[in-house]
Amino acid sequence: MYLKNYCLITGASEGFGRALAIECAGRKMNLILVALPGPELFYLANFIERNYKVEVIVFEKDLTKEEECTMLYKEVCERNYNINILINNAGLGNTQLFSEGSISFYEQQLKLNVVATTLLTRLFLDMLRNNAPAYILNVGSLCSFFYLAKKQVYGATKSFIYFFSKSLRRELQNENIHVSVICPGSMNTNTSVILLNKKSSWLSQLAVMNPEKVAPIAIDGLLKRKEVIIPGSVNKFFLVLNKLIPASLKKIITNNQMKLLNAVPPRFQPAMTEALLPVSIPVNKPLPVIINQIC
Ligand SMILES: NC(=O)c1ccc[n+]([C@@H]2O[C@H](COP(=O)([O-])OP(=O)(O)OC[C@H]3O[C@@H](n4cnc5c(N)ncnc54)[C@H](OP(=O)(O)O)[C@@H]3O)[C@@H](O)[C@H]2O)c1
Repeated sequence: MYLKNYCLITGASEGFGRALAIECAGRKMNLILVALPGPELFYLANFIERNYKVEVIVFEKDLTKEEECTMLYKEVCERNYNINILINNAGLGNTQLFSEGSISFYEQQLKLNVVATTLLTRLFLDMLRNNAPAYILNVGSLCSFFYLAKKQVYGATKSFIYFFSKSLRRELQNENIHVSVICPGSMNTNTSVILLNKKSSWLSQLAVMNPEKVAPIAIDGLLKRKEVIIPGSVNKFFLVLNKLIPASLKKIITNNQMKLLNAVPPRFQPAMTEALLPVSIPVNKPLPVIINQIC
């Protein structure tokens, strides 16, 4: 019996996951969309089915719970859905001093960013093998490459994603399963982030991208089997610059960054994602500090 292939996207109800879903639908891929319970996922599924004529299946799961990751896999198997593309996008960001975060918040962040990505990849691996050529796209961050105050745990989870993806790619390359990692800088993914991005300095704003612009770059890179996908020329430029800056200068940058961040009013501190760091720093700052803000 011929079975259709599906692309499974986690964290698909909004932000980058939503943009990825629409991009994949535009390429006529059938979709399995996963997010926390809520109406947005169903609105999106309806919108995609009406406009793109592909099949969209929705699963409401809390991926911070190991048993829900396993249930997702079991339900996909029971309903005979065949996955040939797995996109691990769901992720939880933050900007705060380590001592300001609660243990339960860090636990959730580690579970979603690290454990769920690992579990889902392991659970779906045999299915991907059976459907080769198959693809895994893990969503990292430009943060993977920098040591950033107030992003200690988030940055470390994204470094995990980066190293995990690159290592797994080496293991799976002979099995026709292609692993890519995308490392975006700031994206205008949800209302609070968009508002904060608007207040950031002009140079920080240059690096900000819309998820709808990043999504085609992500899927092109994945299908072209690129190992690491860095969207946007400003982000690429800062990565090159980071390689050129000597360690001693980076130490000065980090110290400056801490001084500036300590002067930030708390109202700028609670929210999500990379976008927050640029917002929270005064505009007249030395170039090295700007470099560190952009990721
Ligand atoms: N935004 C940026 O500037 C930026 C930059 C670099 C990398 N990234 C990465 O890109 C990815 C997406 O970020 P985003 O900014 O688009 O995030 P977002 O707008 O906050 O969307 C997060 C998505 O993940 C889902 N989600 C959250 N917790 C979940 C859970 N426990 N179980 C299942 N799904 C859950 C949300 O579902 P609900 O809607 O149901 O809550 C939503 O669909 C993340 O991995 C992030 O680290 C973002």
